[in-house]
Parts: sequence; structure tokens; C-alpha cells
Amino acid sequence: MTDVFVHEVGTRDGLQSVPTFVPTELKMRWCSEEFRAGVREIEVCSFVPAKLIPQFADAAEVVRHALTIKGLTVAVLVPNMKGAELALQHGVHKINYVISASESHNVANMRMATARSLAELKSILTANRAESIAVNFTVATAFGCPFEGDQSPDRVFSIVESALSWGVDGVTLADTTGMAHPLQVARMVERFHVGFVGIPLTLHFHNTRGLGIANVFAAYQSGAVLFDAALGGLGGCPFAPGATGNVCTEDVVHMFELMAIETGIDLPALLDLSSKLSALVGHDLPGQVVKAGRRCDLHLLPLEARERLPTADGGGSLQN
Ligand code: COA
Ligand code: ZN
Repeated sequence: MTDVFVHEVGTRDGLQSVPTFVPTELKMRWCSEEFRAGVREIEVCSFVPAKLIPQFADAAEVVRHALTIKGLTVAVLVPNMKGAELALQHGVHKINYVISASESHNVANMRMATARSLAELKSILTANRAESIAVNFTVATAFGCPFEGDQSPDRVFSIVESALSWGVDGVTLADTTGMAHPLQVARMVERFHVGFVGIPLTLHFHNTRGLGIANVFAAYQSGAVLFDAALGGLGGCPFAPGATGNVCTEDVVHMFELMAIETGIDLPALLDLSSKLSALVGHDLPGQVVKAGRRCDLHLLPLEARERLPTADGGGSLQN
């Protein structure tokens, strides 16, 4: 039985900040291979203007391919009504509609006030919704904004409350620029579970200040079971200064595996896939386990040290 679910967002959150266009064929293969490794939900791309994020100019093709992978939940990020319409047209399983808690970040990211973003979400949910499509609502900058600082939890939860009253199916609290810390995470997750019983909650952390995996652990301890992560730790919001990648998928899976918490994901297969990713994007990636190996992957003792090891007949280092 799977205890926690790790959703891949590297194909969206990761690739959106990669300046060179990654060939469509490779994006498709990434989705297929990660599904084979056991990942069951992938945010495959965004429906945004290609002028703004050219990396997703091939969104339709990537979605078409992802929909052929039986058993995969195909999610896409949408920033507005037009994005939602495109997502519906292309038959995705889930749209992830994003609004920043902070007014400044929403204007920088979405070019509109949060009130307008919320109004578009309400229209999507009331007018255009097909029964077969799930709508997840992400509150970006939920743990802090790079322009305004801490966001009041009351504001974050009041936005969540509005979205839920219009019928979103799940909520993601996103730490867009890695400002969250474990104690804050625990408080937010606990408050969410008390206030919104039975509503699926996903946590989306970035490792900007090295606290990503500590935040995953804190959220898990507070009852969260759904996490976003990016293969290799690829990523970063293009509209937030100093942004870096999401928590790294294989590092998160590795941590849970050590804790005997079942993710349903084949870690060696994931590591194999991750080891090819830096060549694909053309730079080194922050993932740790792919470089260091799993905790108990053993290394050959250097020859000189082997010669000094004590032996059964009393030879070796004890004699020297
Ligand atoms: N997908 C594709 N095209 C879209 C679109 C979408 N979701 N939304 C708008 N467009 C098109 C419009 O049709 C219009 O096309 P035209 O110039 O040919 O007439 C053009 O883009 C501008 O539309 P407008 O509504 O004025 O958009 P905008 O320039 O105010 O930008 C957003 C608003 C929301 C589309 C933009 O800010 C955005 O995509 N933000 C998301 C950024 C992001 O992905 N951030 C990281 C993830 S959190
Ligand atoms: Zn993100």
C-alpha cells in the first residue's frame, strides 16, 4: 500500500526556467519513463502564452502523449480562463490553477490582481467545468513572498476557503521561493486539516534555502501525504528573484524509503532517469542521492586501506 504520493512537477516547474527548448520527444520520454518508475501523477506542462514561456510551446503534443500512458494522472498548470479552456479542449485529467497569496507576486507572475485571478477561477468552476476534470487550487507564496515577506495565514486560508466554496477538488500550499521552515509548515498543515477536513492537501516546496526536505518531513509528521517534487531538483519560478528548484523527487523518495514509508516508486529506476537529466538540460542539478548514491550503496575500500585491514591471522593494521 502506498503511504505517500509524490507528484512529479519537474516537467512543468522544472522546465519552465530552462532557457533552451527541450525537444518534445525527450519531454514525452521523461513522462513515460517516470511512469514506469512508479510515479502516478505528473504535471506535464503549463498552458500559458508561448511568447511568455516558449518551453511550453509544445504543450498540446506533450499532453497528447501523456494521455496515452494508462494509469497516469495528467495534470497541467493554468494561470487563467484561457489556459483552463485549452486544458479542457486537450482532455487533461486535472488542472492546477495558481494564485499567489501575495498581491505583488500575483501581479509579477500572472499580470493581474489576486481578485481578478480569483474571479477567473470562480468562472472556470461555475461555467466551464466538465465532470471528468479535476481542479486543484495552488496558493503560491503561501509561506512567504519575495516582495512582501510573510503572508498572514488568515489571508492564505481565506483564499483557500473561497476556492473550496466554488468547488475545487484539492489544494496545494506552495512555497514558491523556499521561504518556508519546518515549524511554520507544521502549523499550516495542522490548521488546514482542522479547517478543511477531508480535502486533499498537497505540499509544494522549493529548496532555495536548504530546508526543502526538512519541510517535507515536517509536513508528513503533521499528516500530509501528497507532495510535489522535481526530478533532479530542477526548477525555479521565472518570476521570482533567486528562485531555485523544487525538492528533488529522488531525494524525497529516498528519505521516505529509509523511513519505511511506501511511495510506490522504484528508486533505482528514478535515479537512472535522473542521472540522464543534467545532460538533457545542459547543467548540473542539485539532486544529492544521484551523486552520492543511496545511503547503503557501498563503495570499494581503497587498495591501500584494504592492505591495512586486520586479518584472521593477526596481520594488517594492528601490526603496523
Ligand atoms: N495560454 C495561451 N495563450 C494565452 C493564455 C494561455 N493561458 N492566456 C492568454 N493568452 C494569449 C491571449 O490570447 C493573447 O493572445 P494575442 O496576443 O494573440 O491576442 C495574449 O496571450 C495576451 O493575453 P492576456 O490575457 O493579455 O495575457 P497577459 O499578457 O496579461 O498575461 C497570463 C496573463 C496569466 C496569461 C500570464 O501572466 C501567464 O501566463 N502567467 C503565468 C506565468 C507562469 O507560468 N508562471 C510560473 C508558474 S506559477
Ligand atoms: Zn514551484
